[in-house]
Amino acid sequence: MKLQAIRGMKDLLPPDDRLWRRVEELARQTFMAFGFAELRPPLVEHTSLFARAVGQTTDIVEKEMYTFQDRGGESISLRPEATAGVLRAYIEHKIYASPGPHKFFTIGPMFRYDRPQKGRLRQFHQLNCEILDEAGPEGDAELLVMLTQFLAKLELGNITILLNSLGCASCRPAYRQKLLNFLLPQKDGLCPDCQRRMELNPLRALDCKVERCQTLTLNAPELPDSVCPECAAHFAKVRELLDLAGVSYKLEPRLVRGLDYYQRTTFEAVCGELGAQSAVAGGGRYDGLLSLLGGPDQQGIGFAMGMERLIMLMPPAQEVGPRLMVAALGEAAYTVMFPLVMRLRERGLTVEMPPAGKSLKALMRKADKIKAAQVAIVGEAELASGQIPLKDLGSGQQRLLTLNDFCRAFA
Ligand code: HAM
Repeated sequence: MKLQAIRGMKDLLPPDDRLWRRVEELARQTFMAFGFAELRPPLVEHTSLFARAVGQTTDIVEKEMYTFQDRGGESISLRPEATAGVLRAYIEHKIYASPGPHKFFTIGPMFRYDRPQKGRLRQFHQLNCEILDEAGPEGDAELLVMLTQFLAKLELGNITILLNSLGCASCRPAYRQKLLNFLLPQKDGLCPDCQRRMELNPLRALDCKVERCQTLTLNAPELPDSVCPECAAHFAKVRELLDLAGVSYKLEPRLVRGLDYYQRTTFEAVCGELGAQSAVAGGGRYDGLLSLLGGPDQQGIGFAMGMERLIMLMPPAQEVGPRLMVAALGEAAYTVMFPLVMRLRERGLTVEMPPAGKSLKALMRKADKIKAAQVAIVGEAELASGQIPLKDLGSGQQRLLTLNDFCRAFA
């Protein structure tokens, strides 16, 4: 058997761990400044949760979930996204009854059985944020400001925020009918997916990636022109707040998104450099979803960023060696240096000390190979004199440290 990871699932290997850590640290810092706390739901949930939350007619639920029967015969699925699990936890633990704020972030792997390609994996990672008791446009604006601040801190450049309003339960049905009237006469020209979804979710035809669907829907009625006055006022306020905060965005009346729960504000952050899978983030408002799942009559909004796509846009990670390598020549030197090395590590310094028994030449070759910044050479003579040479491998300069002062020299 060939030893190989599953198709579409990748190992995270050094030195890229540095990039992943940087993204996660920056995310935690940014989200916490906006009052978010971490909520970690399990990776697996009842299949019915995703069917109800994400939507029966979505690609995700129809054909992309990793669904299994467990040993008790229950249908369970690996999470394809985080929102459903966060909402389930919010309802199950009655978090809605606490004073709040009800803002949660989740970082971790998601699973979708799609055809792998550049920027599209079967196991990928999301930074996901939800605000769960916010009905007003302030929450939408706050979330979008947070997203743009985070992307700016990562210095990715060239990212555009696309913004749309999908209307609400009271105005969308009329728009849906208007769109159906437009689409039905040309149904045969649409792709099989759009034809199949025509009755249940005709809006998806608007952002279908198939070229002939894009051409056929070019003159379709646009959503923002058809929303009710309440939705229009909500959207206008979101835009006003974004303008006040200096967030730039592009209105995209055809942005529908692939999950069923969205209402009113929806958005995506896209970057042309990523090619076909250009979205680094996507989200929106999902009023009504909490009560649909049996929760309180509260509204919510959120987004998720794809970590692999963010990392693809960052400059490659550099290998960084330890700050110090101690070259112990012989057991006696190793024994003396062992507690000192452990103390330095306790203080957070990256130090390597290969086991005793290697020649000076071999140890210096190793220091070079692991890109150590400095090498301390300790043999019998050094132990006797109490003077340890510390060599800077970049400049070649050397200085002497007393054994007593060894740890202090790295303070
Ligand atoms: P989504 O648009 O399906 O939304 O995914 C959000 C982001 O996850 C995408 O913009 C992309 O960066 C990344 N992503 C999605 N699928 C893949 C994949 N197969 N491979 C690599 N990256 C991927 C959601 O998941 C919603 N739950 C977001 C949300 C939260 N809406 C409200 N709250």
